[in-house]
Amino acid sequence: MTTALIGQPISRVDGRRKVTGAATYVAEFQAPGLVHGAIVRSTVANGRIASIDSSAAQQAPGVIAVLTHQNAPKLAYRAHKGAPDPGIGERLHVLQADRVSHQGQPVALVIAEGLEQAVHAAMLVRVTYAPEAAITDIARAEPVPLTPPSETRRGDPDGALAAAEVKLGQTYVIPRENHNPIEMHATIASWDGDSLTLWDKTQWVHNVADEIAAVFGIPARNVRVISPFVGGAFGSALRTWPHVTLAALGARVAGRPVKIMLSRREMYYGTGFRPHTVQRVALGASRDGRLGAILHNGDQETSTYEEFTEALLNATGFLHSCPNVNTRHRLAPMNVHTPTYMRGPGEASGIFAIESAMDELAVALNIDPVELRLRNEPEQDEFRQLPFSSRSTRECYQAAAERFGWSRRNSEPRSMRDGRQLIGWGMATATYGAGRAPASAMARLLPDGTAEVASAASDMGPGTWTSMTQVAAETLGLPIERVRFTLGDTRLPRAPVHGGSITMASVGSAVQAACRKAREDALARGGGTNDVTEAMRRIGQPVEASVDSTPGDESQRFSMHAFGAVFVEVAVDPDLGETRVRRIVGAYGAGRIVNPKLARSQCVGGMIGGIGMALMEHSVVDGRNGRVSNANFAEYAVPVHADAPPVMDVIFVEEHDPHVNPLGVKGVGEIAMVGVAPAITNAIFHATGKRIRELPVTPDKLL
Ligand code: MOS
Repeated sequence: MTTALIGQPISRVDGRRKVTGAATYVAEFQAPGLVHGAIVRSTVANGRIASIDSSAAQQAPGVIAVLTHQNAPKLAYRAHKGAPDPGIGERLHVLQADRVSHQGQPVALVIAEGLEQAVHAAMLVRVTYAPEAAITDIARAEPVPLTPPSETRRGDPDGALAAAEVKLGQTYVIPRENHNPIEMHATIASWDGDSLTLWDKTQWVHNVADEIAAVFGIPARNVRVISPFVGGAFGSALRTWPHVTLAALGARVAGRPVKIMLSRREMYYGTGFRPHTVQRVALGASRDGRLGAILHNGDQETSTYEEFTEALLNATGFLHSCPNVNTRHRLAPMNVHTPTYMRGPGEASGIFAIESAMDELAVALNIDPVELRLRNEPEQDEFRQLPFSSRSTRECYQAAAERFGWSRRNSEPRSMRDGRQLIGWGMATATYGAGRAPASAMARLLPDGTAEVASAASDMGPGTWTSMTQVAAETLGLPIERVRFTLGDTRLPRAPVHGGSITMASVGSAVQAACRKAREDALARGGGTNDVTEAMRRIGQPVEASVDSTPGDESQRFSMHAFGAVFVEVAVDPDLGETRVRRIVGAYGAGRIVNPKLARSQCVGGMIGGIGMALMEHSVVDGRNGRVSNANFAEYAVPVHADAPPVMDVIFVEEHDPHVNPLGVKGVGEIAMVGVAPAITNAIFHATGKRIRELPVTPDKLL
């Protein structure tokens, strides 16, 4: 009997394990003889290590080894770049030389029997530096074009801007933000001869194996990576960061399994961050609200050793219709560790600028912000000159506006009040790419009518475990409780990086294909029955299918993105300058929704992340030394329950996309974050008449 499971609001299959504590996270694994590592980090942002005295640390209780660049084994550091690694530059080599290029760079590793002993001994390592001038502030850095330069131009943007009836040009700033998953990064490394087992918090087990194999000069098949549960990541666990190498290095030297768990503070110096961006947007339009010119420049911080770049300006080319567009993306090499992708990377930052500018244009033209966007709705991707595989922006504006009650908005700033609170309504458009990468999966039907299905995906929280079980069970024609899905282990078929909202499209397609093949094989051998359970009973032995699933050329023929619209109500206290988000309504055209309960949960999470981006998050960098002065949860504010509005409405508009992938899904993890920050700042303008172009909008900016 086949039941429709795709599209059902199934509760998390791993939920019980998570809430009862039965789910084992990396730092909780045990290995016989496990010892602990503590990292000593640079206190300067640029220069050389002049001296290291580790004698006191060596003699401290419980200490097994102290590794510095002077005594650490030389590592192979073979070339290797996984998808989340910057294409240009070379990753940080740990404990290989005396060069320091950022605050917090690892300069020594202490291995001790106990965690407290390791931490104590790390404080006894005496390091002196020959510091050099450091650039830690983008305002003092010199941005350079990307390699290769990525300037885009269509039409005559400068001429069209000069000739436009209405024009505006403004600068929008997003500070550095850090990922703050509840679970901090951790690695346990254990060698057995030339084979290494790593329990690691990661969004991509196979890439950890490839990277650590390259670093140590061993075959990747010698490295097993296990990562069953990931307590949030938001992009911080996409790359294989230096602490993973340090754990493996420490374990090799100590001859014992080593655990390294980063502190909250350490995560500000070693697991990436959303880069500080400075964007300049100029718009030209006719009086009736047709865009004539868009000029969008973006400068973004990166490290001195790698060119980290995200798709900051990509959406500018296709979000709104415009004949004359120029984008110019530059990078500012600085004495920071390499930034990385953080939820909604590229679009979340770029669209803050574009959708803020669009709101400013709507005000200048005295046209409703939704109407302005409708007047500039493109028929195709004007940058790539390709049709969209599907695009439901109109439906999203309409559905969200209706649910929100947008027609009751008085467009005059400061015109809406609730007691002494100034009320503001704002909106913005959202989009994120609908990508897909090669993925493999295995499905094994068993004679007892159950099935095991596996792919080495990760589940950092979106519900991959559950959604894959749904796809598998429906395709196999089995009840969901008879299907066991496994992920997070390099022994399983290879999956792509769990990022960029591609998991459902990629791994889901592989799981579907493997299950379809297993079911067909079982029925073909089952003696004429159409019931897979009965067929398996007759066959009496497992039937297994493995499939490598790869995208076709659809991404060459279509422009494939999810689109959405976000509407927000804020209340601003005119005396205190405090902004509270009261309501958010988001409508998304994200293709097929495999699990509306978990997809809604994803979107609510993105909305809350957007509140953080708009109102709170800011890694404050001390310009003298690159130190993050608020690298803790007391001073780096993230939204808590009390900051989440009681109303967070998520609408998935009906969308059937036959081109995007076999499942017709687009993913919601990233788009949920996009558009929220500009919708909030646009609402703040509507409430107060003040346009804030630099995030986060803290009370001081409104007083
Ligand atoms: Mo997402 S920033 O690709 O984890």
